[in-house]
Amino acid sequence: MSPTNLPRWTASAPEPGDDGASPRHVAIIMDGNGRWAAARGLPRIEGHRRGVDALRRAVRSAHELGVRQLTLYSFSAENWSRPAQEVADLMNLLRAFIRRDLTELHRGNVRIRVIGERRGLPDDIGGLLEEAETLTRANSGLTLVVAFNYGGRQEIVSAVRRIAEAARDGRLDPATIDAGVVADHLDTADLPDPDLVIRTSGELRISNFLLWQSAYAEFVFLSLHWPDFDHAAFEEAIAAFRTRQRRYGGRVARVGA
Ligand code: IPE
Ligand code: IPE
Ligand code: MG
Repeated sequence: MSPTNLPRWTASAPEPGDDGASPRHVAIIMDGNGRWAAARGLPRIEGHRRGVDALRRAVRSAHELGVRQLTLYSFSAENWSRPAQEVADLMNLLRAFIRRDLTELHRGNVRIRVIGERRGLPDDIGGLLEEAETLTRANSGLTLVVAFNYGGRQEIVSAVRRIAEAARDGRLDPATIDAGVVADHLDTADLPDPDLVIRTSGELRISNFLLWQSAYAEFVFLSLHWPDFDHAAFEEAIAAFRTRQRRYGGRVARVGA
């Protein structure tokens, strides 16, 4: 199968015979902060704090492991349903992270992108997210995508709404709507699909993360909780990825087949 035969939305299209290759785009569902803290008799916030440390480690590891893009699920559209104090703690941790780490990330040539719904976020957080994106826009190193107030269904709904509006206004012929048009209306329009999705904490579900984009991602579930995620865990996930055969609905080419 040649990459040109692939539908447009498999943006990180495989090179022919790419089995055993490293993932270029890794997306992580950073889960288990609360259980990590509970197991140690600590308040949940301590788990979230240690989760930020793990996030910093993951960015460094991604760079060392040759990952070009790292997407981190930091706050879901459904996480608003948690107690107000926990939501406030998570907002404060994001503020502190951007204030503390933005300069260093920029110096490290990291390009920051944020996906998710900006409306409804505290004003200052919206400002910080924009500042992070603007400052690092021209960087050419690792792309760090922060999924914040993100929900896959919400993202698809808002894409559908904008497509419908364009059709209504005569800017788009409904007959031309295909997977590429939908992909172009998602928050991730200019970003490749994930090759590998990792979830920590032993939960085996997607929790509304990158629903469209992970159509052909490989999934690796790790039993450790997010605050314990380290370079070795990242390597383990990549090693598992490298044993997978990606077929995209086709067949594996065999010599003489
Ligand atoms: C992940 O840890 C962090 C966020 C969802 C923001 P959790 O807070 O979900 O931790 P568990 O799953 O309750 O252990
Ligand atoms: C998913 O974890 C969201 C993030 C990691 C930000 P959750 O802990 O919120 O997911 P569920 O509720 O267990 O599905
Ligand atoms: Mg959880």
